[in-house]
This record gives sequence, C-alpha cells and structure tokens, in this order.
Amino acid sequence: MKLLSGSDADIRRAAGAIRAGCLVVFPTETVYGLGADTFNPRALAKVFEVKQRPLFDPLIVHIAGLDALDRIADLALLTREGRERLDLLAASLWPGPLTLVLPKKSAVPELATGGLKTVAVRFPDHPLAQKLISASTGALAAPSANPFGYLSPTRTEHVLDQLGDKVDYIIDGGKLRVGVESTVLDLSSPLPRILRPGGVSQDDIEKIIGTVEGPETRTNVIAPNEADPNTADKSPLSPGQLKSHYAPRTTLFVYAPDKMQNLAYNSRAAYLFFDGPSRDRWLGHSGPKNLSPEALPNIRALSESGDIQTAAANLFALLHELDDSGYEAIHAETAPPSGLGPAINDRLFRAGA
Ligand code: TXA
Ligand code: MG
Repeated sequence: MKLLSGSDADIRRAAGAIRAGCLVVFPTETVYGLGADTFNPRALAKVFEVKQRPLFDPLIVHIAGLDALDRIADLALLTREGRERLDLLAASLWPGPLTLVLPKKSAVPELATGGLKTVAVRFPDHPLAQKLISASTGALAAPSANPFGYLSPTRTEHVLDQLGDKVDYIIDGGKLRVGVESTVLDLSSPLPRILRPGGVSQDDIEKIIGTVEGPETRTNVIAPNEADPNTADKSPLSPGQLKSHYAPRTTLFVYAPDKMQNLAYNSRAAYLFFDGPSRDRWLGHSGPKNLSPEALPNIRALSESGDIQTAAANLFALLHELDDSGYEAIHAETAPPSGLGPAINDRLFRAGA
C-alpha cells in the first residue's frame, strides 16, 4: 500500500491504478470510499473480497459530472415524474451527499448492483474524489472503506488501521466534512423512498420534490426504556430487534436523552452525550462525584454546542476512538430527530444492534 497526497501527480498515479484494475481508497465529503473501475468485474470482485462484503450488497457508482449518468443509468426507463425528480435533485443537491437509485444500463456489471435492475449513483462533493473519477474511468464503484459491518472511516488513520495492507493506494484527504454516509433515495419506484438516511436530510429533499417515503429506521421506534437504567440489565431502546451494522467491537448501548441522565457512572465505561449541556447536566447528577482529569477521556459530547453537522462529522471518529480505548461498554445518547439527526441515530442504533 502507498499513501498518496492530493497532488496532480499523485492523482494521475492513482487514476492509472484504477484503470489497471487496482483498488484506491479516496476521500469524499462523507466517508472514505474503496474505489474500483465500475466496468471491471475483476476489480469489483476484489472490493468484495477486501471488505468481506456479501456479493448481494450493491455498490454506489461515483461520477464527476452529469454527462456520465447516461453510461450508467437507463433514464428512458424512468417515468416522467421520475425524470423530473432526478433533474430537480441533480440540479440542487449534486454534487453532494445524496445517492440516487435509478434503472441500470446493461453495461454496468451485475456485480456492481448485486444482481438488481437498479444502480445507485452519486456525484460526490470533494475535489480529490472528482479529480480521481475524471482522471480514471469516469465511474468509480466504491463502498465505504471499512471491513463489512464495521464503523465507516472518516480519517486516513481509520483506513490505515482497517484496510491498510489490503489496498493498493490511499489518497489522504484528512478529516472529512460530513462524516456520515450519503442519503440513499430510490427514484426507480413510483413513490420516491429514502432507503438510508444520511448527509442530506429528508426535509431538504422534500423541499425540492415534495413528499418522499421515509426510511424504515429505528428513529421511528424510539420508545422510552422503562427498565431501571441503573440495573445491570439496562437494555436501552430495544436494540435486539435491530440489524447490526456500522458496529464497533465494544458493546454500545443507545439511549433516549432523558434516559442517559439517570445512568450511574462506571469508570470502565465510556459516555457519549449529544452536546455539552447534556453532558454537564449528567455530571451534575449521576456522573462521577469527584471528577479527575483522567476521567474525562471517557465522557464525551458529539458536539459541544449541539450543532448537528458537527455532531455528524465527529460521530464515527469518536466511536472509533472510544472503541479503541478498551472500555467495557459505550453508552451513547441519540441526537434530536431533525436535520442530520435521523442519520446519526440510524448509525447509533445499528452500531448498538
Ligand atoms: O457516502 C457514501 O455513500 C459512501 C461514500 C464512499 O460515497 N459510500 C457508501 O457505500 O456508504 P456503501 O457501499 O457502504 O453503502 C451503499 C448503500 C448500501 O446500503 C447499499 O445497499 C445501497 O447503498 N445500495 C447500493 N445500490 C443499491 C440499489 N441498486 N438499490 C438499493 N440500495 C442500493
Ligand atoms: Mg458502508
């Protein structure tokens, strides 16, 4: 593996590697992607192998301009409404953290789409991603650059730790801006539906194309936990029924904000609050009584001021850090359910499943 900068020479080198069927990890505004040439099935197979990802789980095809769309998606198969929605969304939210599921062109290998008749397309808003895509094949299939089911990488170090020896090149883009994956919106069916909440909120989409069907997320099933949160068996928001994904190795418990406040302090656990005021309230009631500075690394907030974008950008990095610190458990509080809140909570619930 070789670590590359974003210099033009390095981008040319990485683009050549993509054309030769190699794998290149590259930054996007959301999370790092593990990129391969969409039209090279052997390269796609390597992506699945490196990630240990099931073959039926389809990849997102990344483009760097609307002209590439025609090579990937069969736009003639969209209804007139579907076509209008695509045009409106592309005009206002691309480039950006929005992935659109569209009818697929037959030239796109089955491996990229898990055998589906649709293909997920995204135009990322990161200059290095755009340069790499343009300089290589114009269409990079890329899942998040983490082993299947593990936390997505938002910093180069995360990629180095998780996949460092398994890929050909990593382009260093530092810390990424959005921090949660793109919103996946299905435009191939009569009613547009959010399949995964992410970097663009449902509100922002509905402002442009009207009502869309919401994701089937656990943010809809937040029910206050009636169990005494101070007992050993403090099962929080019934994570047992949830599908595990984006998971840290440490057991993660997820709480509605008020439930986190009652949690008794245990120095071998980590506590991840949504914002500084919530953390400080807890420190005043249930937190460690004589707080020493050493206790602080295990008591954190996603965003000191409660800014939802900052919280999203910090989410995976904080989970990575707490996960690597050897705590017995991580207790995390959900975000308020507006803007990027549902995307944050979706990741927390899956991580806690
Ligand atoms: O922000 C992101 O989207 C990042 C960066 C690298 O672009 N990528 C990412 O890829 O998160 P991945 O592979 O980790 O997640 C892709 C998601 C999966 O949930 C997959 O099931 C869904 O997109 N997906 C892909 N193709 C689909 C299709 N044809 N129909 C429905 N869902 C699809
Ligand atoms: Mg992923």
